[in-house]
Amino acid sequence: MGSPSSSPAANRAFPHLAADERPTLKDVAKLIKDGKAKRIMVMAGAGISTAAGIPDFRSPGTGLYDNLAKYDLPYPEAIFDIDYLEERPEAFYTLAKELYPGNFKPTICHYFFRLLQEKSLLAGAWTQNIDTLERIAGIEDDLIVEAHGSFAEAACLNCRKKYTKEEIKPQIMRGEVVRCQEKRCKGKDAALIKPNIVFFGEGLPDRFFSRLSHFSSCDLLIVLGTSLTVGPFNSLMHRVPSSCPRLLINLESVGEVDGPRSREGFDFDGVTGRAGGIRDVRRLGDADEGVLELCEMLGWADELRRLKDEGWKALDEAEGKTTPAKVEERKEEIKEAKREEIVAHVGEAVEGGKAGKEDVDDLTKAVEGVSLEQKDPINDKKAPL
Ligand code: OAD
Ligand code: ZN
Repeated sequence: MGSPSSSPAANRAFPHLAADERPTLKDVAKLIKDGKAKRIMVMAGAGISTAAGIPDFRSPGTGLYDNLAKYDLPYPEAIFDIDYLEERPEAFYTLAKELYPGNFKPTICHYFFRLLQEKSLLAGAWTQNIDTLERIAGIEDDLIVEAHGSFAEAACLNCRKKYTKEEIKPQIMRGEVVRCQEKRCKGKDAALIKPNIVFFGEGLPDRFFSRLSHFSSCDLLIVLGTSLTVGPFNSLMHRVPSSCPRLLINLESVGEVDGPRSREGFDFDGVTGRAGGIRDVRRLGDADEGVLELCEMLGWADELRRLKDEGWKALDEAEGKTTPAKVEERKEEIKEAKREEIVAHVGEAVEGGKAGKEDVDDLTKAVEGVSLEQKDPINDKKAPL
C-alpha cells in the first residue's frame, strides 16, 4: 500500500485544470458556464471598432498614424498633442470630421459587452475609444469608463464653456476649426472648442481613477483590440487579483512579459513558472470572430447576433429610415399637403369667377382620390453605413 496520493495542485485561475495544464478559450467558456466568472471586466481599444469602419491607430498601413501624411505632422501623435492643436488646429478638426460619431454602428464586440450586461455579468467596460460605440450599443453609463474621453461633449479651451456634440457638429462636418463664440473668447483667433478627448499631456477623467478599485473584485478580465502601448490604461490588467484569469482577443499578441524574471504582462506560455499555473489565454485573430467563437462555446451566439440585428434596426429607425410606421406617417403628410394645395386652388378659382359648381365638384372628387404615386423621400435616402 502506498501513501495516500495527493491530487495534483489545481490551476488557481482555472480550478478544473491541473496547475501544469495550459488553459484555452474553452476553459474560459467553462468558467463562465459554471458560474465562476460573475464580475467580468472588459478592456478595449481601437481594434474593436475597425469592423465599424473606424481605423485603429497603429496597424501598419491601415492605422491612422500611417495615414496622417496629408496633415504634414511633425510626428503622428501630434494630432492629439495639446500644444500642436493650438499651433495648427486644422489637422485635428479634419480628423474629427472623419471620426465624428453618428456615422458608425457598434460591432459584434460592443454587443458582446451588452450581452454580458444583460446577463448581469458585466462589471465594467473600460475603453480607450472615443467613438462612443459602447454607449450606442446600450451599455449602462455607470458601467462605462471612457478612459481617453470621447466626442460626446466639448469645451472651450479658454472659458471652459461646455458644448454638446450636436452643437458643434455642423462646423465639424464642414471641416472648420471650431472656435468659442463667447464674448470673452471671440475674435479672429478665438479660443478653440475641443472635444473632450484626452490629448497627450492631459489628465484622464476622474472616473478612471475613482473606479480603479473595481478591478480588485474582477473574476475574469477580457482585453480586446488594443496594442496596450498607452499608459496608464495598459497597466489596468495588473490590477486584477493574481488568481484572476485574463483573456486577450486581438489580431496580434500584445502586453507579454519580457522574460522569466518579468513580473508584469501576460504570460501565455508559462515562461515565468508562476506558482498556481498559467492564467492568461490568448485568441489571436479578428475580435468579432473571437467573441463569436467564445459565444458559440457558451451557446450564446444566436442571442448575440440577435442583439446586434435589433440594435442596428433600432438605430436605423431612430434615424427615420425604413420603418413602415415612419413611411406611412410621411405618406399621410404628403397627402395632406396635396389636399390643402388643391383646396386652395379651388377656392381661388371660385373666387376669381373662373370656376363654377361643376368644376368645384370635379376638383373635390380629385381631392378625395389623391393618390400617392410620387417618390417617397424617406425611401429615396441613402442607406446608412
Ligand atoms: P492601436 O491602434 O494602438 O492598437 C489596436 C490593436 O488592435 C492592435 O494590436 C491591432 O492589431 C488590433 N486590431 C486591429 N483590428 C483588429 C480586429 N479587427 N480584431 C482584433 N484586433 C484588431 O489602438 P489602441 O490600443 O486603442 O489615444 O490605442 C491606444 C491609444 O493610442 C488610443 O486611445 C489613442 C492612441 O493615441 C487617444 O485617442 C487619445
Ligand atoms: Zn470660450
